[in-house]
Amino acid sequence: MNLAPSSLAPPAPDPLAVTRFVQAQMGAGGAPLSRGTQSRVYLYQDQSGRYVIKTPRDGLVGACIGRWMMLREWHIYQRLEGLAGVPRCHGLIDGRYLLLDFVDGETFRSAQHRLTADDPFFDRLGRLITALHARGVAHTDLKRKDNLLVLADGTPCLIDFGAAIQRRQGPLSRTLFLMGRQFDRNAWIKLKYKGYRGVSPDDLHHLRRLPIERVSHWIKRRLRHLRRAAMKHRGSDQP
Ligand SMILES: Nc1ncnc2c1ncn2[C@@H]1O[C@H](COP(=O)(O)OP(=O)(O)O)[C@@H](O)[C@H]1O
Ligand SMILES: [Mg+2]
Repeated sequence: MNLAPSSLAPPAPDPLAVTRFVQAQMGAGGAPLSRGTQSRVYLYQDQSGRYVIKTPRDGLVGACIGRWMMLREWHIYQRLEGLAGVPRCHGLIDGRYLLLDFVDGETFRSAQHRLTADDPFFDRLGRLITALHARGVAHTDLKRKDNLLVLADGTPCLIDFGAAIQRRQGPLSRTLFLMGRQFDRNAWIKLKYKGYRGVSPDDLHHLRRLPIERVSHWIKRRLRHLRRAAMKHRGSDQP
């Protein structure tokens, strides 16, 4: 059977309708699905399905850096096209609205309490990370537990490629990619064992914490400690 290309293309929303929708949401101060430091994520639905639209923040920063970040993320989604475990991307509309399939899953943050280290989820996640690297992409932000979704059947899905690194020609790019790849492997261990304690010898040989990770971990711990001390101090001041 000879199928016309249009019948092979996945269903996708009308770009004009998407633009109108986002602008109406922004204008009316509609509640986004998520509001990050650099972006807003809106849920969008039409007869072809459910989608999310990731947009840069408004203002000057959003107009410049935000748009550049969306473009970067779109290029990464193009490189990952067809990879199971990554949402399908339907393009970058108007140079700023990144349109993705909506993934009906729970964030790892909310699912983590029932996922023990022996859950098959982690083997699947490990294979997904390896497949990602084979496409020349390192995610680099997997320790953030909202960037990983857990589907109802227990499979993982990776989102938010805003900080991802693509492998390109040249020694600098290659070095950055290798560092990013190691970040992802370390993140996998940290998520699986809820830290770096009790790691099995089999997994231990994947772990190589880079100095930059150790320093940032140390800073975060100090900040947490200071915050707690400040709260305690404030509490003891109250009558
Ligand atoms: N394709 C998607 N399907 C379902 N939820 C999503 C999708 N993309 C993003 N989200 C939701 O929006 C949140 C923020 O998206 P993300 O891409 O991580 O933006 P940010 O760069 O602001 O962190 C995610 O943690 C998730 O809850
Ligand atoms: Mg995120």
